[in-house]
Amino acid sequence: MSAAVDDVGQQTPVREPAHEDGPPGIGSYLFSARDLTVSFGPVIALDGFSVDIPRGIVGLLGPNGAGKSTFIKASLGLVTPKKGAIFVGGLDSRTQSLQIRDGVGYMPEHDCLVPSMNAVELVSYFGLISGMMTRDSMQRSHEVLDFVGVGEERYRQIKSYSTGMKQKVKLAQAIVHDPPLLFLDEPTSGMDPQGREEMLELVRMIGSSDKTVLVSSHILQEVELVCDYIVIISNGKLVQEGETKTLVAGEEGVQSLTIRGDEGSLTRFVRMLGEACEIMEAKEEGGKQMTLLIRGCRDGSRIFGLARDSGVQIRRYQPERLDLEEVFLRSFRGGGKDGN
Ligand SMILES: Nc1ncnc2c1ncn2[C@@H]1O[C@H](COP(=O)(O)OP(=O)(O)OP(=O)(O)O)[C@@H](O)[C@H]1O
Ligand SMILES: [Mg+2]
Repeated sequence: MSAAVDDVGQQTPVREPAHEDGPPGIGSYLFSARDLTVSFGPVIALDGFSVDIPRGIVGLLGPNGAGKSTFIKASLGLVTPKKGAIFVGGLDSRTQSLQIRDGVGYMPEHDCLVPSMNAVELVSYFGLISGMMTRDSMQRSHEVLDFVGVGEERYRQIKSYSTGMKQKVKLAQAIVHDPPLLFLDEPTSGMDPQGREEMLELVRMIGSSDKTVLVSSHILQEVELVCDYIVIISNGKLVQEGETKTLVAGEEGVQSLTIRGDEGSLTRFVRMLGEACEIMEAKEEGGKQMTLLIRGCRDGSRIFGLARDSGVQIRRYQPERLDLEEVFLRSFRGGGKDGN
């Protein structure tokens, strides 16, 4: 992939949209897909997919076969849409894919390494084909291998590497030319828990240096930990999108309440509480504890009063917070936060 890099380590600014008043939704968004449809023979991989994605660390989430890799490939102009379009930094992937690729680093899902090369040779080779000078690409290759944590092994043939090391080298080749936009397709694939944590830390570090990183994954917790913005895709369609903190914030006015007590006290409390507010959900947790999801009780002191009167102890009382797994499940049940 070619890249316009003038100097080693010099940061290329994120390309501004080509036309501020150009295609709809460009503005502060880096990606704007409009009715994007990509098919492979009879298989529709992206089906009228429309989304606006801002800069930052963005998670592209979805089950196997959802269309995540196809979205990345369509952004890079590696597959041609049957219908619709995708703009990256204001550039149309159908006609300006080479310009898009100039500012992009791509860590593909599948193996892209040459087994008979060592990591230094391979990463510096990718630097060269990105337009760097020989000396610069060699120096930069060592820098990025240091950064991803490949030590003296860098002089061994890649075929002897563990999966985790190969993933790190794949990341190194994607960042060797210091691109402002990175596509990481399942970067933690096949890695053990420690390797995954290290990879996520690298993604965080890259994202904190003003780059936009699009990370595809089906591991929800990982994405929740590192991404500022999340796009959920299923069957080639957009299911849900938004800032992570907004998606995981519960519905306004809904609170989670965990109480502890004997069976009689718990029953008494739930009955009285049901007269004071709406109980949306009640989960028993091992006989002596319950967690309730309640709505419409703005007066916290009332709840504490009821607890005192019925002899239960309040263990936790806070606004509802979802984890991404719940967001994911709700959006598939059609019960997204916005009801879509
Ligand atoms: N080259 C291809 N030829 C035929 N079908 C394809 C091709 N590439 C993708 N598909 C199909 O398109 C759909 C979307 O695939 P895609 O690889 O984009 O999904 P994904 O979300 O990346 O899945 P995974 O999590 O398994 O990587 C799937 O049904 C897949 O089988
Ligand atoms: Mg994929």
